[in-house]
Amino acid sequence: MAKVLTKAKASPVADEERELLQTESRYCSHGDTVHYAETPKIFERCEGSYLYDLHGRPYLDLQMWYSAVNLGYANPAVSNALRAQLDRLPQLACQYLHREKIELAQLICESIERGFGMKGRVQFNVGGSQAIEDALKLVRKHTGRSRMLAFQGGYHGRTLGASAITSSYRYREAFGEFADRAEFIPYPYTFRTHRGDGQRTEDECIAEFERRFEHEYTGTWNPKTRRAEFGALFVEAVQGTGGYVIPPKNYFKRLAKICREHGILVVDDEIQMGFHRTGKMWAMEHFDMQPDIIVFGKALTNGLNPLSGIWAREELIHPGVFGPGSTHSTFSSNTLGTATGLAVMRILTRGDYQASVPRKGAYFLGKLRELQARHREIGEVDALGLALRMEMCEADGYTPSRRLADRMFQLGLEGDLTIGSRTLGLVLDIGGYYKNVITLAPSLEITTEEMDLAALALDQVITRARQALK
Ligand SMILES: Cc1ncc(COP(=O)(O)O)c(C=O)c1O
Repeated sequence: MAKVLTKAKASPVADEERELLQTESRYCSHGDTVHYAETPKIFERCEGSYLYDLHGRPYLDLQMWYSAVNLGYANPAVSNALRAQLDRLPQLACQYLHREKIELAQLICESIERGFGMKGRVQFNVGGSQAIEDALKLVRKHTGRSRMLAFQGGYHGRTLGASAITSSYRYREAFGEFADRAEFIPYPYTFRTHRGDGQRTEDECIAEFERRFEHEYTGTWNPKTRRAEFGALFVEAVQGTGGYVIPPKNYFKRLAKICREHGILVVDDEIQMGFHRTGKMWAMEHFDMQPDIIVFGKALTNGLNPLSGIWAREELIHPGVFGPGSTHSTFSSNTLGTATGLAVMRILTRGDYQASVPRKGAYFLGKLRELQARHREIGEVDALGLALRMEMCEADGYTPSRRLADRMFQLGLEGDLTIGSRTLGLVLDIGGYYKNVITLAPSLEITTEEMDLAALALDQVITRARQALK
């Protein structure tokens, strides 16, 4: 153990760190976290693109809390909004109204109307999975169906309902029966399925989906009543935990058309890719498709007081069809979360993120391409805005290398990379079907200097990881 700790010189801070870790191992359940690092890392402070450990060492964060902190750590405008709310109306039962809830709902509805040309309403909750649960209830209420379709490689959370539509059996295996487990259909993962031939992958996935509705013997479709057994298809415009897989341009449009023809709703999970991560407020705006329900969370509050929610088309959610108490949580539209969300939405709507995110994404992707030219273990790099992927492989550039990605992750957390006169660490995240994809979600405020530094640090981490595995 304590690979990181043994490197820290003996000091009161190192003693305190050791004690905290011992206390953690005695009192903290590991059930609510992923404990991915060999030694859990304790951070003390954060600012902009950086986290700082107990020793004051900086770590350039390239994943920003799985894209929950799009506007950078300790963003002053967002923190000030939270502080102001704390001083004015920090608590209020959700059955009463407050200004921020109403204005935030309006801003979200307006942005969806601008992006997709649809009218609807918003309701809030406190976490991504809980909002997914609310979307499931809405679909069930509207369609009378409890079975869903979702994607292989998709991730929608770990509450019981969200686990049932998340493709990893690993998350369900130990927890009994999931009667409403979704049926998981393939996602066009171009690099893995056809090594570059995107069109064929898209066509094959669409054809496979269409075949479900050819006749009654597919098991889920009645041509006489023209009803399917499924209430909705849950989609991520760019698969998050699945490894930032970006589908072909027309894929969702074609898929949604088939869903419409067969009475299946489309739920767009924007929890990880929403709020300008991809350069548009909603990632699905890139794909020219109109979802029926949109689910959001994470970056809505820039990682401050939790808030999530769903938007749905008016006919699905107006009070006449989805009345009071259809879903409820004590904290659902809490004042601190809505005030923070309102500040974030104002920043995102008034800023030039439509232009700056694609520009920065292209620059960062260029840096990743340079790395790919130097390291044959990088099988693929790709990006949509500032959602970037770097797929780590064996020397053949194709066989997935989980151990290389793992080593890079650990080396980043050791905090002793040297770039010129600077010593720093790197916070990375790993996703993908084979757990071999470095998924990069830097701050939308990342500077060119920070992207240059990130490329140098990644170069060093890959080189060191390769050497360590020899
Ligand atoms: C696409 C997607 N949906 C749902 C969730 C679940 O959100 P939460 O972890 O806030 O419950 C996540 C979390 O990573 C996610 O990325």
